Amino acid sequence: MNMNDLNERSIIVTGGASGIGAEAARRAAARGARVTVADLSVEAGQAVVAAIRADGGEAQFVRTDISVEDDVRRLVEEAVAAYGGLDGAFNNAGLPPFSSARNGMHPLAGLPAEAVTRSLQVNVLGCFLCLKYEIPAMLASGGGAIVNTSSANGLVAIPFSADYIAAKHAVIGLTKAAATDYATQGIRVNAILPGIIRTPMMLTATGGDAEAVDSFRKAMPIDRLGEPGEIAEVALYLLTDSASLMTGASVSVDGGQTAV
Ligand SMILES: NC(=O)c1ccc[n+]([C@@H]2O[C@H](COP(=O)([O-])OP(=O)(O)OC[C@H]3O[C@@H](n4cnc5c(N)ncnc54)[C@H](O)[C@@H]3O)[C@@H](O)[C@H]2O)c1
Repeated sequence: MNMNDLNERSIIVTGGASGIGAEAARRAAARGARVTVADLSVEAGQAVVAAIRADGGEAQFVRTDISVEDDVRRLVEEAVAAYGGLDGAFNNAGLPPFSSARNGMHPLAGLPAEAVTRSLQVNVLGCFLCLKYEIPAMLASGGGAIVNTSSANGLVAIPFSADYIAAKHAVIGLTKAAATDYATQGIRVNAILPGIIRTPMMLTATGGDAEAVDSFRKAMPIDRLGEPGEIAEVALYLLTDSASLMTGASVSVDGGQTAV
């Protein structure tokens, strides 16, 4: 057996309609996985599934708000029903910081409490709910692997992003807790910590402003933005048996951003 194989594995990708998640869904399907794409965004999610099928891959779309328990329960049920079980999950959906070119830039005391609540609901509770329903389905399938998307901001702060920084630190905590609780039961749980990646989320944060993009680029010693595929490849590796000793890890994929 090829240890790096995803062939015929049933895998959920949340946030699979855009950016990093869409790239991961496409690449997983190209490697033979049966992919359940979950997202709030119906049209874009269905387009990702259509592209996978056009290339001969297997995928389905399930409209999901990861912050709503019933949605997540149904997502996992649909993945199991369509593909006979659940072997892997990339819990990647997330909300960007409230501060943005559109909303203005807010130091901690200027952030509306509702913005922090929403960030915690999607980025933290959403991740918890995915773990809560995926893990029992994986136990029933004989084990599995999970990757949660944190961020370089799960380790270090940047200005004006307290909502996001708190949430992404918490994703690392959830990852360690889940890894600890299920390490002896054939379930591995790791976090991936992207640097600044060229996706719609990054463009929303900067409003496309060249100076803002430039300052993001300079935060990465590698002196360029990351591409979605560079995150997707590492996430998929963590889902394979090649990563069999890895659990509870925080894997930085950030061009050196958190090394300096
Ligand atoms: N782009 C970056 O620079 C960067 C850096 C570090 C971490 N991340 C993280 O990577 C992940 C993917 O981000 P991206 O850059 O690909 O962004 P993106 O905006 O391109 O994709 C995020 C997707 O998540 C979906 N989503 C948002 N809220 C949801 C919800 N409640 N339920 C279901 N789906 C929901 C959106 O509809 C969207 O399709 C996020 O968790 C983000 O925080 C991104």
